[in-house]
Amino acid sequence: MLIASVFTARRVAALRPAVEAAVTRLLDGMAEQGADGSPVDFMDAFAFRLPVGVICELLGVPERDRYRFRALASDLTAVLEISGDLGELTEADRAADELSGYFTELAAERLARPQDDLVSDLARIAAEDSVRLSAEELPANLVLLLVAGFETTTNLLGNGLSLLFRHPGAAAGLRNGAVTPAGFADEVLRFDSPVQVTERVALEEGLSVDGLPTPLGGTVTLLIGAANRDPARYERPEVFDPTRTDSRPLSFGGGQHFCLGSRLARLEAEVAVPALLDRFPRLPRAASPPGGTAWSCGAMRRCR
Ligand code: HEM
Repeated sequence: MLIASVFTARRVAALRPAVEAAVTRLLDGMAEQGADGSPVDFMDAFAFRLPVGVICELLGVPERDRYRFRALASDLTAVLEISGDLGELTEADRAADELSGYFTELAAERLARPQDDLVSDLARIAAEDSVRLSAEELPANLVLLLVAGFETTTNLLGNGLSLLFRHPGAAAGLRNGAVTPAGFADEVLRFDSPVQVTERVALEEGLSVDGLPTPLGGTVTLLIGAANRDPARYERPEVFDPTRTDSRPLSFGGGQHFCLGSRLARLEAEVAVPALLDRFPRLPRAASPPGGTAWSCGAMRRCR
């Protein structure tokens, strides 16, 4: 409840000026980096820095610490993929321990010297009422907020730019108003969801999903990416069409665990994409993305 209160419609809307200022600053940085014609890594210079900056401001993570989180979050989120790779899971455990240790220390610092941020608020609550928030839950929640707060949005921005490269009509539509920033963000979320799966655990006996019994404690894996392209729900689901009016992507999950940061993620995308197109009217891709797929390609060259 306490964490949810930071992400209400009103409080997120109030963050718009700060998000706009951050977008302008990062676009300036990209223009500077590419001023001599050299390629700029969009994923690092923008797609990572925007959401990590916003969530770290809310949490109260000092600026000097923010840029080490990208690799750690990438290691940690291996647990969210469907993979049996034990090496990856070991790395994920190591990243979880490091992040948890970081937030345990930061929370202790903020308890001693509180500031106007979420780490201070949560550290105070945990100190006052360990039933409401235990010593283990405190860093676990902070790590969740940090990682959930930027990794997914980074990939939304990267997937969005990749789709703009592949669909120049979408960029033209955004420029002339035929495509709205919100409609574009929704269709990127539907077509290429940054989160592909989520899970539920059966907490009661006798449950079933689509006729299949789910034993107590059993896990159900929900394929968000597949649901977003359900032919029974969408006409021509395999086509990227940001002018759709019926797009309701399941990319933020649903029900009790629906993503707390969905409004913030949408706000960041809706501010960032038009500003990027405005700032760099021609936006050529500097290279193909690593691995040869078009996914999450962020390399671009300044061209003005
Ligand atoms: C494009 C960006 C994002 C996507 C695609 C995304 C997706 C998701 C998904 C699929 C879930 C699980 C929902 C379920 O199982 O029903 C989730 C949960 C969550 N997300 Fe996000 N998220 C994004 C951005 C954010 C941001 C910016 C924040 C924080 C500021 C955030 C915080 C959370 C939290 C705290 C939860 C756990 C909620 C709970 O278990 O009650 N997310 N998100």
